[in-house]
Amino acid sequence: MTTIQALLKQTSRQLASVSESPQLDAELLLAHCLHKERSYLYAWGEKQVEESTQQAFKQLIKKRLTDYPVAYLLGYKEFWSLDLMVTEDVLIPRPETELVVETALEKIQSISTPNILDLGTGTGAIALAIASERPDALITASDYSENALAIAKKNAHQNQINTVDFIPSDWFTNLPRTKFDLIVSNPPYIKSDDLHLQQGIRYEPLQALAAGKTGLDDIISILDSALAYMKNGAWIIIEHGYDQGKLVPMLMKNAGLQQIRCIQDYNENDRLTMGKKYDNYVRY
Ligand SMILES: C[S@@+](CC[C@H](N)C(=O)[O-])C[C@H]1O[C@@H](n2cnc3c(N)ncnc32)[C@H](O)[C@@H]1O
Repeated sequence: MTTIQALLKQTSRQLASVSESPQLDAELLLAHCLHKERSYLYAWGEKQVEESTQQAFKQLIKKRLTDYPVAYLLGYKEFWSLDLMVTEDVLIPRPETELVVETALEKIQSISTPNILDLGTGTGAIALAIASERPDALITASDYSENALAIAKKNAHQNQINTVDFIPSDWFTNLPRTKFDLIVSNPPYIKSDDLHLQQGIRYEPLQALAAGKTGLDDIISILDSALAYMKNGAWIIIEHGYDQGKLVPMLMKNAGLQQIRCIQDYNENDRLTMGKKYDNYVRY
């Protein structure tokens, strides 16, 4: 038998080869196997870990050592203040995406019962985070992956949110011709030959990540149709790659949007671009 403390020490050393947060990973996975909160590990560091729990923990560590994400091993990921279920059918929500939520909340601050569309909702992360802050909002969340939508619906249910309407759709093709106050999207934006796709994120769904040779195919598709679904004065907010902070504003300008602005995340990387629609805009 081994103690909690000894097991954590030994495992975090092992995980250092694949993880930037080996201690945290080890703690999250051991707490999960013990069905306890992480704080239990600190309070009971000298406690012996039963053989069966050790075996279950070792299995998870073995998988983690292949770069398999902790969130998939745990089956959930925290986003905003929500616990979201994740499986290999959905992208694991990233902390950077909370910037989309923050910006969206600012843009709808003065609108009562805003009509919002979240394109490519995945786990439902953006739509559900906005819904949790603005229960008066009428939110449509779409994805072309039926499996992803099934997870998003479960997440809505588990977080007791019933103001989001989930629609299967290839971007706008299946959506009712409604005009929205705000469109948000974190679409796929990685170049198809990007080497990251062969690393840790290889376990995540490729259709959630890759967007053609330039990484811009999906953003271009969205901007092609978006304006027809926006009210006069509506905003669109699109998350993109750190190296797309010049291209996406240009695409938004070409689409006829105004007041275009790119925002950086906490690591000072270009992360999202937003633009506003005005009906009186004349394209030359
Ligand atoms: C980068 S993930 C974002 C997931 C989630 N919104 C988030 O921020 O964590 C992109 C999502 O877009 C969806 N998607 C990709 N192509 C699509 C398309 N043509 N139409 C609708 N959804 C699409 C994927 O299934 C995936 O769920």
